[in-house]
Amino acid sequence: MSAPAATAQLYLKQARNSPNSKDCMEIYDKWAATYNDEVGDSAQSYVAPVLVAQAAIKFKSSKSPADSVILDAGCGTGLVGQALAISGARAIDGIDLSQPMLDIARDTGAYRDLAQADMNKPIAQKDDTYDIVSCVGTFTLGHVGPDPALRELVRVTKTKGIVVATILQEIWVPFGFKAEVEKLEAEGLVEVVSTDLIDYVKGHGDKAVLLILKKSQRA
Ligand SMILES: C[S@@+](CC[C@H](N)C(=O)[O-])C[C@H]1O[C@@H](n2cnc3c(N)ncnc32)[C@H](O)[C@@H]1O
Repeated sequence: MSAPAATAQLYLKQARNSPNSKDCMEIYDKWAATYNDEVGDSAQSYVAPVLVAQAAIKFKSSKSPADSVILDAGCGTGLVGQALAISGARAIDGIDLSQPMLDIARDTGAYRDLAQADMNKPIAQKDDTYDIVSCVGTFTLGHVGPDPALRELVRVTKTKGIVVATILQEIWVPFGFKAEVEKLEAEGLVEVVSTDLIDYVKGHGDKAVLLILKKSQRA
Protein backbone atom coordinates (compact mmCIF):
# COMPACT_ATOMS: atom_id res chain seq x y z
CA MET A 1 0.00 0.00 0.00
CA SER A 2 1.27 3.51 -0.86
CA ALA A 3 2.09 5.99 1.92
CA PRO A 4 -0.95 8.27 1.21
CA ALA A 5 -3.31 5.27 1.14
CA ALA A 6 -1.83 3.99 4.42
CA THR A 7 -2.33 7.40 6.03
CA ALA A 8 -5.94 7.48 4.82
CA GLN A 9 -6.50 4.03 6.32
CA LEU A 10 -5.05 5.17 9.63
CA TYR A 11 -7.23 8.31 9.88
CA LEU A 12 -10.31 6.40 8.75
CA LYS A 13 -9.70 3.70 11.35
CA GLN A 14 -9.38 6.36 14.07
CA ALA A 15 -12.53 8.15 12.86
CA ARG A 16 -14.51 4.90 12.75
CA ASN A 17 -13.42 4.18 16.35
CA SER A 18 -14.58 7.61 17.58
CA PRO A 19 -16.64 7.31 20.76
CA ASN A 20 -18.49 10.59 20.06
CA SER A 21 -18.97 13.40 17.52
CA LYS A 22 -16.35 15.65 19.17
CA ASP A 23 -13.58 13.05 18.82
CA CYS A 24 -14.64 12.32 15.24
CA MET A 25 -14.56 16.03 14.44
CA GLU A 26 -11.05 16.42 15.84
CA ILE A 27 -9.78 13.64 13.57
CA TYR A 28 -11.27 15.29 10.47
CA ASP A 29 -10.01 18.71 11.61
CA LYS A 30 -6.47 17.23 11.54
CA TRP A 31 -7.02 15.24 8.35
CA ALA A 32 -8.66 18.00 6.25
CA ALA A 33 -5.52 19.45 4.64
CA THR A 34 -4.35 16.12 3.18
CA TYR A 35 -7.69 14.22 2.87
CA ASN A 36 -8.13 14.71 -0.89
CA ASP A 37 -4.60 13.57 -1.77
CA GLU A 38 -4.87 10.53 0.47
CA VAL A 39 -8.34 9.22 -0.37
CA GLY A 40 -7.77 10.07 -4.02
CA ASP A 41 -4.59 8.03 -4.19
CA SER A 42 -4.86 5.40 -6.92
CA ALA A 43 -4.31 2.48 -4.55
CA GLN A 44 -7.15 3.72 -2.39
CA SER A 45 -9.56 4.65 -5.19
CA TYR A 46 -12.43 6.23 -3.31
CA VAL A 47 -15.16 5.87 -5.91
CA ALA A 48 -18.29 6.55 -3.82
CA PRO A 49 -18.55 10.34 -4.41
CA VAL A 50 -18.70 9.95 -8.20
CA LEU A 51 -21.04 6.92 -8.03
CA VAL A 52 -23.48 8.82 -5.80
CA ALA A 53 -23.38 11.95 -7.95
CA GLN A 54 -24.11 9.82 -11.03
CA ALA A 55 -26.97 8.01 -9.27
CA ALA A 56 -28.45 11.30 -8.05
CA ILE A 57 -28.47 12.76 -11.55
CA LYS A 58 -29.85 9.53 -13.07
CA PHE A 59 -32.74 9.07 -10.64
CA LYS A 60 -33.73 12.75 -10.46
CA SER A 61 -34.66 12.79 -14.12
CA SER A 62 -37.65 15.14 -13.83
CA LYS A 63 -35.37 18.14 -13.28
CA SER A 64 -32.03 18.92 -14.89
CA PRO A 65 -29.02 19.14 -12.55
CA ALA A 66 -28.83 22.87 -13.30
CA ASP A 67 -32.39 23.35 -11.99
CA SER A 68 -32.01 21.13 -8.92
CA VAL A 69 -31.41 22.47 -5.43
CA ILE A 70 -29.09 20.06 -3.63
CA LEU A 71 -27.91 19.43 -0.07
CA ASP A 72 -24.66 17.49 0.32
CA ALA A 73 -24.82 16.27 3.92
CA GLY A 74 -21.44 15.36 5.43
CA CYS A 75 -19.87 17.11 2.45
CA GLY A 76 -16.31 16.93 3.80
CA THR A 77 -13.85 18.56 1.39
CA GLY A 78 -16.42 18.69 -1.39
CA LEU A 79 -15.72 15.64 -3.57
CA VAL A 80 -19.46 14.98 -4.10
CA GLY A 81 -20.21 18.64 -4.77
CA GLN A 82 -17.47 18.75 -7.37
CA ALA A 83 -18.81 15.62 -9.09
CA LEU A 84 -22.34 17.11 -9.08
CA ALA A 85 -21.05 20.44 -10.42
CA ILE A 86 -19.36 18.65 -13.35
CA SER A 87 -22.84 17.32 -14.24
CA GLY A 88 -24.14 20.90 -14.31
CA ALA A 89 -25.49 21.35 -10.76
CA ARG A 90 -25.22 24.93 -9.54
CA ALA A 91 -27.24 25.29 -6.33
CA ILE A 92 -25.42 22.95 -3.94
CA ASP A 93 -25.39 23.53 -0.18
CA GLY A 94 -23.12 21.55 2.11
CA ILE A 95 -23.11 20.72 5.81
CA ASP A 96 -20.41 18.98 7.81
CA LEU A 97 -19.19 18.67 11.39
CA SER A 98 -15.61 19.75 10.67
CA GLN A 99 -14.91 23.41 9.86
CA PRO A 100 -11.49 22.69 8.26
CA MET A 101 -13.18 20.15 5.93
CA LEU A 102 -15.80 22.82 5.06
CA ASP A 103 -13.01 25.35 4.38
CA ILE A 104 -11.53 23.03 1.73
CA ALA A 105 -15.03 22.49 0.27
CA ARG A 106 -15.44 26.27 0.01
CA ASP A 107 -12.20 26.49 -2.01
CA THR A 108 -13.66 24.13 -4.65
CA GLY A 109 -16.18 26.82 -5.65
CA ALA A 110 -18.78 24.05 -6.16
CA TYR A 111 -21.01 25.07 -3.22
CA ARG A 112 -23.56 27.87 -2.88
CA ASP A 113 -23.59 27.73 0.91
CA LEU A 114 -21.67 25.77 3.54
CA ALA A 115 -22.44 25.40 7.25
CA GLN A 116 -21.20 23.46 10.22
CA ALA A 117 -23.74 20.94 11.56
CA ASP A 118 -23.85 17.82 13.70
CA MET A 119 -26.03 15.32 11.86
CA ASN A 120 -26.51 13.29 15.03
CA LYS A 121 -28.87 16.10 16.01
CA PRO A 122 -31.72 17.82 14.14
CA ILE A 123 -30.33 20.05 11.38
CA ALA A 124 -31.22 23.70 10.72
CA GLN A 125 -32.42 23.37 7.10
CA LYS A 126 -36.12 24.03 6.44
CA ASP A 127 -38.70 21.37 5.49
CA ASP A 128 -39.17 20.52 1.78
CA THR A 129 -36.19 22.53 0.51
CA TYR A 130 -34.06 20.21 -1.67
CA ASP A 131 -34.60 18.24 -4.90
CA ILE A 132 -31.61 16.02 -4.09
CA VAL A 133 -29.92 15.24 -0.77
CA SER A 134 -26.63 13.36 -0.99
CA CYS A 135 -24.70 11.83 1.88
CA VAL A 136 -21.49 9.94 1.15
CA GLY A 137 -19.09 8.27 3.57
CA THR A 138 -20.82 9.73 6.62
CA PHE A 139 -23.16 6.88 7.59
CA THR A 140 -20.30 4.80 8.86
CA LEU A 141 -18.86 3.52 12.15
CA GLY A 142 -18.13 6.28 14.67
CA HIS A 143 -19.75 8.99 12.51
CA VAL A 144 -23.52 9.39 12.06
CA GLY A 145 -26.27 6.96 13.12
CA PRO A 146 -29.66 6.42 11.49
CA ASP A 147 -31.79 8.36 13.98
CA PRO A 148 -32.50 11.27 13.64
CA ALA A 149 -30.34 11.72 10.54
CA LEU A 150 -32.30 9.70 7.96
CA ARG A 151 -35.62 11.27 8.98
CA GLU A 152 -34.00 14.71 8.95
CA LEU A 153 -32.64 14.22 5.43
CA VAL A 154 -36.13 13.16 4.28
CA ARG A 155 -37.69 16.14 6.06
CA VAL A 156 -35.57 18.69 4.17
CA THR A 157 -36.21 16.95 0.81
CA LYS A 158 -39.05 18.18 -1.43
CA THR A 159 -41.93 15.85 -2.31
CA LYS A 160 -40.74 13.58 -5.19
CA GLY A 161 -37.16 14.61 -4.39
CA ILE A 162 -34.53 12.00 -3.57
CA VAL A 163 -32.09 11.14 -0.82
CA VAL A 164 -29.01 9.30 -2.12
CA ALA A 165 -26.70 7.98 0.57
CA THR A 166 -24.00 5.42 1.16
CA ILE A 167 -24.20 3.29 4.29
CA LEU A 168 -21.29 1.04 5.16
CA GLN A 169 -22.54 -2.50 4.54
CA GLU A 170 -21.42 -3.86 7.90
CA ILE A 171 -23.62 -1.40 9.83
CA TRP A 172 -26.72 -1.40 7.53
CA VAL A 173 -28.59 -4.01 9.61
CA PRO A 174 -26.76 -4.09 12.99
CA PHE A 175 -26.85 -0.31 13.54
CA GLY A 176 -30.54 0.01 12.63
CA PHE A 177 -30.30 1.76 9.23
CA LYS A 178 -32.42 -0.87 7.48
CA ALA A 179 -35.03 -0.77 10.28
CA GLU A 180 -35.18 3.04 10.16
CA VAL A 181 -35.70 2.98 6.37
CA GLU A 182 -38.49 0.41 6.80
CA LYS A 183 -40.08 2.66 9.43
CA LEU A 184 -40.00 5.70 7.11
CA GLU A 185 -41.48 3.55 4.34
CA ALA A 186 -44.22 2.16 6.64
CA GLU A 187 -45.14 5.72 7.66
CA GLY A 188 -45.66 6.53 3.97
CA LEU A 189 -42.89 9.14 3.95
CA VAL A 190 -40.67 7.49 1.34
CA GLU A 191 -40.50 4.96 -1.45
CA VAL A 192 -37.33 2.85 -1.42
CA VAL A 193 -35.78 3.05 -4.90
CA SER A 194 -32.51 1.21 -4.25
CA THR A 195 -30.55 -0.62 -1.60
CA ASP A 196 -27.95 -1.99 -4.02
CA LEU A 197 -24.45 -2.83 -2.86
CA ILE A 198 -21.65 -0.77 -4.43
CA ASP A 199 -17.89 -0.62 -4.20
CA TYR A 200 -17.06 2.08 -1.73
CA VAL A 201 -13.30 2.15 -1.80
CA LYS A 202 -11.87 0.08 -4.63
CA GLY A 203 -8.85 -2.01 -3.65
CA HIS A 204 -9.88 -2.01 0.01
CA GLY A 205 -12.86 -4.34 -0.08
CA ASP A 206 -15.30 -1.96 1.61
CA LYS A 207 -18.82 -2.22 0.27
CA ALA A 208 -21.68 0.16 0.95
CA VAL A 209 -25.42 0.08 0.50
CA LEU A 210 -26.39 2.70 -2.07
CA LEU A 211 -29.63 3.89 -0.53
CA ILE A 212 -31.98 5.88 -2.74
CA LEU A 213 -35.22 7.14 -1.19
CA LYS A 214 -37.92 9.07 -3.03
CA LYS A 215 -39.99 11.35 -0.81
CA SER A 216 -43.67 10.47 -1.11
CA GLN A 217 -46.49 12.81 -1.99
CA ARG A 218 -48.17 13.97 1.20
CA ALA A 219 -51.73 12.72 1.72
C1 LIG B 1 -15.29 9.95 5.03
S1 LIG B 1 -15.70 11.66 5.13
C2 LIG B 1 -16.74 11.84 3.70
C3 LIG B 1 -16.75 13.25 3.20
C4 LIG B 1 -17.31 13.43 1.80
N1 LIG B 1 -18.73 13.20 1.75
C5 LIG B 1 -16.59 12.52 0.83
O1 LIG B 1 -17.24 11.61 0.30
O2 LIG B 1 -15.40 12.73 0.63
C6 LIG B 1 -16.88 11.72 6.46
C7 LIG B 1 -17.35 13.13 6.78
O3 LIG B 1 -18.35 13.04 7.78
C8 LIG B 1 -18.22 14.17 8.60
N2 LIG B 1 -18.90 13.89 9.87
C9 LIG B 1 -18.55 13.02 10.84
N3 LIG B 1 -19.44 13.04 11.83
C10 LIG B 1 -20.38 13.96 11.49
C11 LIG B 1 -21.55 14.46 12.13
N4 LIG B 1 -21.93 14.02 13.34
N5 LIG B 1 -22.28 15.40 11.48
C12 LIG B 1 -21.90 15.87 10.27
N6 LIG B 1 -20.79 15.43 9.61
C13 LIG B 1 -20.05 14.49 10.22
C14 LIG B 1 -16.71 14.35 8.75
O4 LIG B 1 -16.36 15.62 9.21
C15 LIG B 1 -16.26 14.05 7.33
O5 LIG B 1 -16.18 15.22 6.56
